[in-house]
Amino acid sequence: MKRVDDFRLRFGKQELVPIVIGGMGVDISTVELALEVARLGGIGHISDAMVQTVSDRRFDTNFVSQKLKKYKANVASSDKSEIHFNLAELEEATRSHVLHAMEAKRGDGMIFINCMEKLTMNAPRETLRMRLSAALDAGIDGITLSAGLHLGSCALMEDHPRFRDAKLGIIVSSPRALAMFLRKNARLQRLPDYIVVEGPLAGGHLGFGMDWAQYDLATIVAEVLAYLKAEHLDIPVIAAGGIFTGSDAAAFLEQGVAAVQVATRFTVTKECGLPDKIKQEYFKASEPDIEVNTISPTGYPMRMLKGSPGIGAGIRPNCEAYGYLLDANGRCAYIDAYNRQV
Ligand SMILES: Cc1cc2nc3c(=O)[nH]c(=O)nc-3n(C[C@H](O)[C@H](O)[C@H](O)COP(=O)(O)O)c2cc1C
Repeated sequence: MKRVDDFRLRFGKQELVPIVIGGMGVDISTVELALEVARLGGIGHISDAMVQTVSDRRFDTNFVSQKLKKYKANVASSDKSEIHFNLAELEEATRSHVLHAMEAKRGDGMIFINCMEKLTMNAPRETLRMRLSAALDAGIDGITLSAGLHLGSCALMEDHPRFRDAKLGIIVSSPRALAMFLRKNARLQRLPDYIVVEGPLAGGHLGFGMDWAQYDLATIVAEVLAYLKAEHLDIPVIAAGGIFTGSDAAAFLEQGVAAVQVATRFTVTKECGLPDKIKQEYFKASEPDIEVNTISPTGYPMRMLKGSPGIGAGIRPNCEAYGYLLDANGRCAYIDAYNRQV
């Protein structure tokens, strides 16, 4: 059997170690982790989830407390239509987060940002456009579009000078979702540079229903590779979800993927942003400690350690400051779920 090091991820003439560390939101996949991966020649992800709080922690800003102060009177209400996100602040927070990573980058690898469509902030199009353009302005090597179908996301970037130079990729869990994405973006004449195929054993949210166990990554990867071949498309495919050892990775690389994306394996690294106590929980965990549940207000099943705090743990979602699932009509699925629980 071949080893991982017998393979390379190729973007044109550029060759990389075929290992991508997946984005893990709210600074679990930190700049430090991404920098180390890039130094070693692979691809590391940072995430733009709740970037205001990341900025406050790192750059001494106070976006979160200011925002909460401004909307204090609204905290008890379920109608969040009054809450607005200051695009200049969002731009500043995203820009400093990305710049911090890109200026420190050494080595032959790359740093991408994970950008979730579900992060809606009461103005889905405007906030997404700002997040994408600020990351491109700050010199990010690539953007991975995740947590959503992203049928309109590329069009939000089409006028950006780096639209054709930065790497752009999408996470899908089926050839159907990929076909929809490609069809919707055909007008732009800008194919994705890579496709991450995420299977049902991935950590965090799953792009499947509670029938997730009926699917398996190798089959979905084979279907996506066959679809691309039939369409005469030569786009690197990256397999993700449940890949844990070098042998797991080598088996997928031999199947024809260009790289593997891994995340859970790296939650226990020194560079990972989880508190040390939580890292120990990951170390201690064995299979019976993991569950797939439906507590996430996103509507997607979630794979997590049983003891992780969820919506019922009494921590009120800070919708005013983050607007994670705050839709354009002022409804926040997190607040509604929290209110149901309490
Ligand atoms: C703690 C944790 C947080 C994650 N957060 C995100 C996220 O914010 N956005 C996203 O697209 N994927 C997220 N993922 C999924 C990973 O990027 C990755 O694709 C997946 O976990 C790969 O499977 P593995 O963990 O079995 O290696 C997360 C995974 C974990 C374990």
